[in-house]
Amino acid sequence: MNKTIETIMKRKGAMSYTSQQVNESDMNTIISAGIAGPTARNLQNRHFTVVQKQELLQQINDGTRILMGAPSEYNPLYGAPTLIITSAPIENAQFADQDCAIAVENMTLTATALGLGSRYIVSPTRFIENETGNTVKQALGIPEKYRTVACLIVGYDANPSQTPVTRNMDVVNYVK
Ligand SMILES: Cc1cc2nc3c(=O)[nH]c(=O)nc-3n(C[C@H](O)[C@H](O)[C@H](O)COP(=O)(O)O)c2cc1C
Repeated sequence: MNKTIETIMKRKGAMSYTSQQVNESDMNTIISAGIAGPTARNLQNRHFTVVQKQELLQQINDGTRILMGAPSEYNPLYGAPTLIITSAPIENAQFADQDCAIAVENMTLTATALGLGSRYIVSPTRFIENETGNTVKQALGIPEKYRTVACLIVGYDANPSQTPVTRNMDVVNYVK
């Protein structure tokens, strides 16, 4: 099978990670792939924040969990050593959510191709955009007047044999 198609088919959202950090070269490749995605009207104004500082990851994890009302054993960041946050201008950025979503998808596929685990998540944006996440948003250096949209956690999958979720294939109609 073609390598690109193989990567798309084997991607899955990893839910546990080892503590091993993603190396700089792989991280640069992942971010470049995010930037390579198309953007509406070629505005290219989505921003990428790579978070690897343990203290901040912990604050985002715990703040998100509390807002979700989830039990203390649930970790919304699944212990991943890297969190990539995409953000977009609050104003005059029609379709910015789609720009960010495309960037995250490009990055998760690239992580898969590099043998890394990753998962598309939005739950941290709930915390970062909440007043309880104000200090963290500032510490993250999210640009002024930007809002966080979509995230990717990345690392080494601690459970590569995790069963892939099944897909309902009955979602297509052809008009010929
Ligand atoms: C827009 C979007 C938002 C998501 N947000 C979360 C999230 O906040 N937390 C989470 O654990 N997974 C999140 N996911 C991952 C999905 O739950 C996951 O992709 C889905 O269960 C299918 O599994 P797979 O990625 O292994 O194919 C999100 C996925 C998408 C596309």
